[in-house]
Amino acid sequence: MAPPSFAAAALLALTLAAPGTALSAVSRVAVESSSNAPLFESETLQLTDESLSHLSKNQSAYFDFAKNDSSLHTRTFGNGCKVFPGDWLWPSEWVWWLFDELLGGALIKTVPLAASCYKSWPEYDANECETLTSEWTDSNIHAADPASVMWPLFEGRSCLPTTDSSASCTVGGYSSYAVNVSSVGQIQLAVNFARNAGLRLVVKNTGHDFNGKSTGAGALGIWTHNLKDIDYIPNYKSSSYNGPAVKMGAGVQAHEIYEKAHELGFTAIGGEGKTVGVAGGYVLGGGHSPMSSIYGLAADQVLALEVVLANGRFVTVTEENNPDLFWAIRGGGGGTYGVVTSVTSRVQPKVGVTVSTFSFSTGTDVSVDAFWAGVRSYIERFPQNADAGTYAYFWILATGADSFTFLMNPFFAVNHTLAQYNTLVKPWYNDLEDLGISITPNSTYYDNFYDAWMAGFPLETVASSVMMTGSRLFPRSNWETPSSFNATFDALKETISAGYSLLAFNMKAELVDGYPSNAANPAFRETLLHAITSTSWDANATNTEIKSKMEDFTNNVLGKWRAVSPDAGAYMSESDILEPNFQQAFYGSNYARLYKLKQRYDPTGLFYAPTGVGSEDWVVKSLDGLPDQNGRLCRA
Ligand SMILES: *[C@@H]1O[C@H](CO)[C@@H](O)[C@H](O)[C@H]1NC(C)=O
Ligand SMILES: *[C@@H]1O[C@H](CO)[C@@H](O)[C@H](O)[C@H]1NC(C)=O
Ligand SMILES: *[C@@H]1O[C@H](CO)[C@@H](O)[C@H](O)[C@H]1NC(C)=O
Ligand SMILES: *[C@@H]1O[C@H](CO)[C@@H](O)[C@H](O)[C@H]1NC(C)=O
Ligand SMILES: *[C@@H]1O[C@H](CO)[C@@H](O)[C@H](O)[C@H]1NC(C)=O
Ligand SMILES: *[C@@H]1O[C@H](CO)[C@@H](O)[C@H](O)[C@H]1NC(C)=O
Ligand SMILES: *[C@@H]1O[C@H](CO)[C@@H](O)[C@H](O)[C@H]1NC(C)=O
Repeated sequence: MAPPSFAAAALLALTLAAPGTALSAVSRVAVESSSNAPLFESETLQLTDESLSHLSKNQSAYFDFAKNDSSLHTRTFGNGCKVFPGDWLWPSEWVWWLFDELLGGALIKTVPLAASCYKSWPEYDANECETLTSEWTDSNIHAADPASVMWPLFEGRSCLPTTDSSASCTVGGYSSYAVNVSSVGQIQLAVNFARNAGLRLVVKNTGHDFNGKSTGAGALGIWTHNLKDIDYIPNYKSSSYNGPAVKMGAGVQAHEIYEKAHELGFTAIGGEGKTVGVAGGYVLGGGHSPMSSIYGLAADQVLALEVVLANGRFVTVTEENNPDLFWAIRGGGGGTYGVVTSVTSRVQPKVGVTVSTFSFSTGTDVSVDAFWAGVRSYIERFPQNADAGTYAYFWILATGADSFTFLMNPFFAVNHTLAQYNTLVKPWYNDLEDLGISITPNSTYYDNFYDAWMAGFPLETVASSVMMTGSRLFPRSNWETPSSFNATFDALKETISAGYSLLAFNMKAELVDGYPSNAANPAFRETLLHAITSTSWDANATNTEIKSKMEDFTNNVLGKWRAVSPDAGAYMSESDILEPNFQQAFYGSNYARLYKLKQRYDPTGLFYAPTGVGSEDWVVKSLDGLPDQNGRLCRA
């Protein structure tokens, strides 16, 4: 940011010293982590009381750590809202400039990613707009932007790529500013600043979250994407574990950790998606993995986290140190208890995987009844397949009136040779043959996870504005009696027949014996099927039409799934933003304890994320009536 000209004199008031950056408030400290994993260089660069003592009283009022006293209520405008651009309490240009100086120049004022498409922005550039438009659905460009997210619908669609350069583009629901984080001290400054100034705060890593947790109008964003360190720890020790581990910076993405694990000869537990941030909202929300049927959730692997709390302090969270946070942060959701700067997780031995893809459809040889009988024969086998340690991603689509397609996309048979895989699926394949359904599976064995994952899962397509999703974790008990199975099968069939595609995972995610328990959704522990469906609308649909589509989807389409699994839940990170009673659905019996811990560690409600723990105490006054983040955040 360019300094305002009048600021030069004020510089003299600052006598902050840190290597390299004359004015930065961040300095290297000689402290060790209380976990067995040494701090990263970026984690030794911290904000200290000493460095703050060089600020004038007026300045330090913005950047001080939380006092451990009664000054705990949120600073809000008279209307009970977080301070918003244009409010008289909104920090002046000079304060933003000072903040940037203290950060060492890491503050970025938000320019929407698609600004190049609009004449009203200085960034207007028709060629660049064309390139951006062609790349819009590529997750990489959103991960690499300080403010962009992969679900523009929940931002507020305030600046989409367009060929109409005179249309309107606003910062909308994107954060107003973002800190491009390279040290813990910068996160501490941002947390203290947002808390002291009453600003909305959002944490953005890649921006994958389905519900808009990494975006918010008028917010200060903390962008953790560039925290890319990876350390291998051959002998990590804690009360319940003694073995190899890996420490990952918050910005490490699936393809990066898997590649590293491959190089070192172990298996890391992360997501299926190529660009998902493994140590970000993914793991904090539980995180299902192609390895889940054997090792449980990504959150279950976590041995230690380094975290900046709402009071600005940097703490190590392990089973022994801050045990309540250790329980809550692992599964209790991102952007809720603090900003995680790194995660240290168990690693698992190298394992071989058979990856198989195939499809079948209704047609001249396959009647609709035969098709569904073939699908039924598959779904009946979910308990055996998950218990065998496999994970399968499949789609079932209606392709017209009374025409359907099944796609295995892929069957990911962990710890199965080709022969073992073929034995596992033989009874199903035999049923298909008896039904006159012919398939030509493309099955390949890989001797390691990385190669199998690279072959099995393509880069995800993101950033649609004309659809939303919903999901359900169907429990094993639904497979236990013929009538509960029939009800489950009929509900899925009815959804698909009504034109809603099924994108689903046959898997389980039990907590492995001896692993410490955590706050992950208890519904995960019971599940055999994480089923996702979606609804969509015309690009020209009005907001009222979209709203009514969404409500119909939530109540009537997903309502059928809830009706056959009333005590189950849904995976918070791939879910319906309008999920009724989200507390039960996303957190189950853990919610009361999570809420209590939220009050204890974040009494001012500094961290807000839609459908996060404690989010019921807040409301976003969205400008278009849709459940997006384009509006003031106010006390409910
Ligand atoms: C400090 O802030 C007060 C009130 O906000 C203002 O009146 C005063 O001029 C400020 N002092 C300095 C040195 O900026
Ligand atoms: C606040 O004070 C209490 C009681 O003195 C103490 O136990 C606690 O650790 C303090 N918290 C912080 C964040 O300093
Ligand atoms: C963010 O900071 C990193 C250094 O940590 C730098 O390489 C990168 O260019 C910065 N990104 C932006 C968008 O400023
Ligand atoms: C892999 O499968 C073999 C049997 O083929 C079994 O003995 C072993 O325990 C399995 N490994 C894991 C990690 O499940
Ligand atoms: C079979 O699948 C592999 C990925 O596992 C792919 O590379 C290959 O092209 C596929 N072969 C055919 C014939 O589709
Ligand atoms: C379940 O559905 C199958 C296939 O339609 C049917 O044969 C069976 O009688 C049903 N069982 C129950 C208990 O409803
Ligand atoms: C909206 O777009 C659809 C095609 O996607 C078109 O059939 C319809 O006429 C359009 N409606 C309006 C009001 O422009």
